[in-house]
Amino acid sequence: MSVVKINALAVPAEMREELERRFSNRAGMVESSDGFEWFELLRPVEGTERYLVYTRWRSEEDFQRWQESQAFQAGHARAAAEAAQGQAAGGQEAGHGHGQAAGQGHGHGQGPAATGAELWSFEVVQSAGHKND
Ligand code: HEM
Repeated sequence: MSVVKINALAVPAEMREELERRFSNRAGMVESSDGFEWFELLRPVEGTERYLVYTRWRSEEDFQRWQESQAFQAGHARAAAEAAQGQAAGGQEAGHGHGQAAGQGHGHGQGPAATGAELWSFEVVQSAGHKND
């Protein structure tokens, strides 16, 4: 059974562009991770202010393996480095609650792009799709 893992990011309005820029330059390593099925970066339009990083995996184990992998670290290397820099400069901690070393936060000079991150987990009960692009 596939699982969906959504990282919900709180992003101040003035940091949205920066966040999207980071994602457009992302490592792209997640695509080649074993058990990876889908990724989307979702920009909020109505009903929430949070960006969602949607990922879908063949199994919980595949997701866990990716999170512990070099690919995850590489995908968050800049975020982690900039967070460390932000802290050295007295920047804020990103303040999300899931103790991974990479992506612990990601301040960058003017402050973190996301001020918080929350990981949501789901099991896929049903799905259907048709992609038009
Ligand atoms: C710990 C809090 C986290 C924060 C603040 C965060 C933020 C970010 C940011 C800013 C990027 C863009 C790349 C960069 O700047 O280096 C990124 C990449 C990414 N994040 Fe996170 N992230 C976190 C944890 C997670 C988790 C738990 C997931 C699982 C759903 C996830 C999924 C992804 C994916 C799939 C990418 C693209 C990586 C690639 O292309 O290989 N992130 N994240």
